Amino acid sequence: MSKFIIEGGVRLKGKVNIGGFKNAAVAIIPATILCPGKCILGNIPKIRDVNVFLEILRELGADADYLDNSSIYVDATNIKSCYLENGLSKKMRASYYVLGAGLGRFKRASTLMPGGCDIGERPIDQHIKGFEALGAKVEITPEGRINVQAEKLTGARIYLDVVSVGATINIMLAAVYAEGRTIIENAAKEPHIVDTANFLNAMGADIKGAGTDVIRINGVKELKGCTYKVIPDQIEAGTYMIAAAATKGDIIIDDIIPKHMEPITAKLKEMGMGIEEYGDSMRVYHYQELVPVNIKTLPYPGFPTDLQQPMTVLLSSLPGESTVVEGVSEDRFRYVEELKKMGACIEFTKRQAKIKGTDKLKGTVVQATDLRAGAALIIAGLIAEGLTEITNIQHIDRGYEHIENKFMNLGAKIKRVED
Ligand code: EPZ
Repeated sequence: MSKFIIEGGVRLKGKVNIGGFKNAAVAIIPATILCPGKCILGNIPKIRDVNVFLEILRELGADADYLDNSSIYVDATNIKSCYLENGLSKKMRASYYVLGAGLGRFKRASTLMPGGCDIGERPIDQHIKGFEALGAKVEITPEGRINVQAEKLTGARIYLDVVSVGATINIMLAAVYAEGRTIIENAAKEPHIVDTANFLNAMGADIKGAGTDVIRINGVKELKGCTYKVIPDQIEAGTYMIAAAATKGDIIIDDIIPKHMEPITAKLKEMGMGIEEYGDSMRVYHYQELVPVNIKTLPYPGFPTDLQQPMTVLLSSLPGESTVVEGVSEDRFRYVEELKKMGACIEFTKRQAKIKGTDKLKGTVVQATDLRAGAALIIAGLIAEGLTEITNIQHIDRGYEHIENKFMNLGAKIKRVED
């Protein structure tokens, strides 16, 4: 078990390079299952979730590994079925993409209920609704195994009752080879939906409308291997933007798509931060006292739920009151108990936090309760007086590449200690 020790009080300065988008990578890697050929994927973050997915693919029979620090290859030719035997599926949420991809290529797939961050109820009824509309039978056993199978997949019109990233991607995967046209209405519009559709199209799929709330998929007969580069991680970039604001810093964030950052850029500007965009980078700088704002998380292009925790830390360090409403996840404020140990003054329910800002956060021992909560606690540690010790950092390693090195390069005093 490792932990982070952080000495607070440094204003971040310098440049940080952003890696490939975790949530795109963990959709695109299983999407390779659909293709009996070799794919080369670039801009892949070196994080635990990617390692787990490579293990899953090898378990299923693929030849898959890193080519270098940021690219991998997957040759799924030898996968014969998508029955995931072991508990790897429990290690991450995105393991459920094996269902859509397996259904698409083999007309059947089976895995255990997925794991991932514990942020409240995360049902998969919309995935099931989509698979069934395409003609599949779905069974969930008492042990939590999900079996999907179909004689034949036929395109259908599917209206999602909830805007779901996972269901949108899973249905796209399952529909790529379905006969005729599939239409997903009320689809999620996140950048990684577009990235996954672009990757599928690069293999030969026929998907239009990704990035809008109506996606049309015309079934194709075959896919071919390709080379593809994953988009930059919007959430990693947003984490450093918020860290710059919290530490009153001045940093350059490189290798990003500024357009994807708009929901965060808009809020930070409203608070008084300076933000300048240049092509694929941006300068985020503090030049005046910041004012608190209210936040409501929503599906893209709303403020992302995955940055709710870092933003709550920032707001809790500013004099004044603010409210954060969680409009996406069921129960994503549990980490606030950890923040309160550091002196934050926050009242919360499952869906809402009322914050009374204080500039007196104090270092203590806290634990990362999930991935983004972990990143938020690092930011809290950077602005707290004294030393902060963060335990359970395996959650952070699931989704942030070299996080302590990146923060150290910005001047932060943070070190990883093996317990
Ligand atoms: C993805 O999770 C991300 N994970 C999450 O990121 C992110 O928080 C979330 O999208 C929202 O943006 C990955 O991409 C691997 P959803 P996902 O399906 O697909 C409800 C991180 O920190 N819902 O869009 O599981 C659900 O309960 C992680 O990187 C249903 O009711 O999210 C939730 O309240 C954490 N029925 C909401 O929709 C369904 O069938 C959004 O879920 C599916 C979802």
